[in-house]
Amino acid sequence: MPAFQTVRGMRDLLGKDAQIFSNTLAKAQETAFLFGFKEVFTPHVEHLDLLSAKTGDEIRQRMFIFEDLGKRQVALRPEFTASIARLVTSALKNEPKPLKLFSTGTVYRYDEPQKGRYREFWQSNFELIGSDKPEADTEIILLTNKFLQTLGLQNYVFKIGHIGVIKGILSHDGVDEKTQNAILQRMDKKEYDLALKLIDSEKCRTTLQSLINIKSKDWHDTVKQLSVLVAEYEKAKVAVENLAEVITLITSSAEISLNVEPAFARGLEYYTGIIFEVYIPQLEIAIGGGGRYDRLIEAFGGEATAAVGCAHGIDRVVIALQTQNTEYLTNVKLGVMVIPVAESLKVDALKIAQMLRDCGVSVEFELMGRKMGKALEDADKRGLEYAIIVGERELKEGCVVVKDLKKREQTTLLITELVEKLR
Ligand code: HAM
Repeated sequence: MPAFQTVRGMRDLLGKDAQIFSNTLAKAQETAFLFGFKEVFTPHVEHLDLLSAKTGDEIRQRMFIFEDLGKRQVALRPEFTASIARLVTSALKNEPKPLKLFSTGTVYRYDEPQKGRYREFWQSNFELIGSDKPEADTEIILLTNKFLQTLGLQNYVFKIGHIGVIKGILSHDGVDEKTQNAILQRMDKKEYDLALKLIDSEKCRTTLQSLINIKSKDWHDTVKQLSVLVAEYEKAKVAVENLAEVITLITSSAEISLNVEPAFARGLEYYTGIIFEVYIPQLEIAIGGGGRYDRLIEAFGGEATAAVGCAHGIDRVVIALQTQNTEYLTNVKLGVMVIPVAESLKVDALKIAQMLRDCGVSVEFELMGRKMGKALEDADKRGLEYAIIVGERELKEGCVVVKDLKKREQTTLLITELVEKLR
């Protein structure tokens, strides 16, 4: 039988890669703590109706759908937002607002696999429910900034737009919601000509074309041009004011590099306000994205509830870190190996291992009964940083031999000094 492979688009994460992933997820968790988000765990499998209701064709067509043995139509979650909206209309219905919920885990989309595009991938997801204030949009962007900053990522740029501006123009000129969604899907793919062809009203087409043409590096200028363009469009005007307010809050409270792009749209259908994605210059794919979705919870049968959120693509964040060769990657602590020189020293060696673990050092113990040379070779192959060699002579003097496996140097240290050295 040929050796089994992983399913196309799905990966095993091993060794250093696995550790970088879990460290990155831990940083997301730290960010959640810093911003007061509470962690929730939701199932990987949800009812198809829930997942497909408001997600948009782009994702709807790429879901892993199956019938369970009870003949229910279910699917693997393609994102967290629908599950969180379900929670807000059920178990968390009566919780005081704002609700700030954080999750990490794998999500599934039948995308065409390539670098940074998988069918199973990891997200860290943040949802802020119950506030329609620009401060809430700002917090979501600030926390994304904090997360990436903590990882040491450089030169990332926020691309920001506002769905309310585009929808405000379209609805003012009588474009129905279904066509609006079809237009936005095409704009998301930068197929502007195809998007414009879906509009009957010439005035509306001209306005949208002018919006697409606005390209300024200075956000003040972009907002000014937008304000002039939508002067007669009441809802779009309010949306532009909201965009300006959020950007003012963001830029006044942090050093953030951002581009405002009026024609920016996202594949997901539920957005109603600010939307954003994050990029680094070396990668063409977004490492995170999100936005405001004030009508999703209502569409799921809950009370009208404002909400804004984002998800970071952890696989892509890790690629971004690797692309920039971030210090964070070399800071992965791989621990030490404790090796007794003889059978009779096992207990002493185990005690030393315990003492180091009690002080937070990651310790492996030589478990195969190998001779010293082989044991050191093995510790080196595993990428451990140090070997602690427990020998009789040194032990009598309260010492051990510490071998730096990278520099290939060794010193004799008092056991009492060990922890300080290894920390
Ligand atoms: P999204 O833009 O679909 O948003 O996904 C968020 C991030 O997941 C992307 O920016 C990207 O980094 C990563 N990602 C997407 N597809 C793939 C893939 N095939 N392989 C690897 N990474 C991928 C959402 O999922 C929304 N639920 C975000 C949100 C939360 N909006 C409001 N609340």
